[in-house]
Amino acid sequence: MSYNLLKGKRGIIFGALNDMSIAWKVAERAVEEGAMITLTNTPVAVRMGEISALGEKLNAEIIPADATSVEDIEQVFARSMEVLGGKIDFVLHSIGMSPNVRKGRPYEDLDYKMLEKTYDISAVSFHKVMQVAYKMDAMAEGGSILALSYIAAQRTFVGYNDMADAKALLESIARSFGYVYGRHRGVRVNTISQSPTVTTAGSGVKGMGSLLDVSDKISPLGNADANECANYCIVMFSDLTRKVTMQNLFNDGGFSSMGMSLDAIEVFNKGLEAEENK
Ligand SMILES: NC(=O)c1ccc[n+]([C@@H]2O[C@H](COP(=O)([O-])OP(=O)(O)OC[C@H]3O[C@@H](n4cnc5c(N)ncnc54)[C@H](O)[C@@H]3O)[C@@H](O)[C@H]2O)c1
Repeated sequence: MSYNLLKGKRGIIFGALNDMSIAWKVAERAVEEGAMITLTNTPVAVRMGEISALGEKLNAEIIPADATSVEDIEQVFARSMEVLGGKIDFVLHSIGMSPNVRKGRPYEDLDYKMLEKTYDISAVSFHKVMQVAYKMDAMAEGGSILALSYIAAQRTFVGYNDMADAKALLESIARSFGYVYGRHRGVRVNTISQSPTVTTAGSGVKGMGSLLDVSDKISPLGNADANECANYCIVMFSDLTRKVTMQNLFNDGGFSSMGMSLDAIEVFNKGLEAEENK
């Protein structure tokens, strides 16, 4: 259902890889709400091809770019303003990757070159996107910039590894640039902290299946899925949230405010009984 919340707005979506990607759902919803968009992902991801189907469906140009490269990001903004015909109203940063997680390095045995890559891809790239936009004066007055985060930035979740530190940095960058961009052009900068979600990046996290189940049992509304995350992004891109900035916004069914739920206690007790009866 469309509410025309983004009618006439121009947006850039980073990070749609396949139809499970949160960015994929955001791109679809943004166009449904009346926006014109461009899509961008790494040259490798673009060559893999799935994103081209999305580009065709949404009539969106795909601009290959490594989000750790300032030159590539400059190209993304220059080309987007050209094809969309003006300054950009909203940007989604939906990018995350940890070589340490991929290679199964535990937190107490991190490879520091890989850690630098984790930070660069998953957090510093967000600064680069905003610094490029700022210097090119590419954002429209009152625009909205979002990145996606996870509650491991505040609390420890086994298996999330160095991505937890990257998310803490990402959220801090949102606050710091939110101040700068708010004063400059009234641009909002926020992060949405999403429930665990089944996607390619999500599946890389050790114990993701159990994390999803536990989190679903603890949250009174259950986990938020990718479509629900997309809906929240649309509201944050719209003019309905013009004074919301420098926030980390939880889209997690209430998980972040919970201690222990009845469901989780029951499951725990069953497990405990089985353990004692062994
Ligand atoms: N899936 C979850 O459980 C979950 C929960 C909370 C937050 N998030 C966050 O949501 C965002 C999107 O992840 P997703 O779950 O949709 O997975 P995804 O794998 O579909 O998306 C991650 C994207 O990052 C892109 N990427 C990696 N390196 C890049 C680089 N150098 N330059 C540009 N793009 C690059 C990938 O190509 C991919 O499109 C990430 O920031 C992730 O941490 C995910």
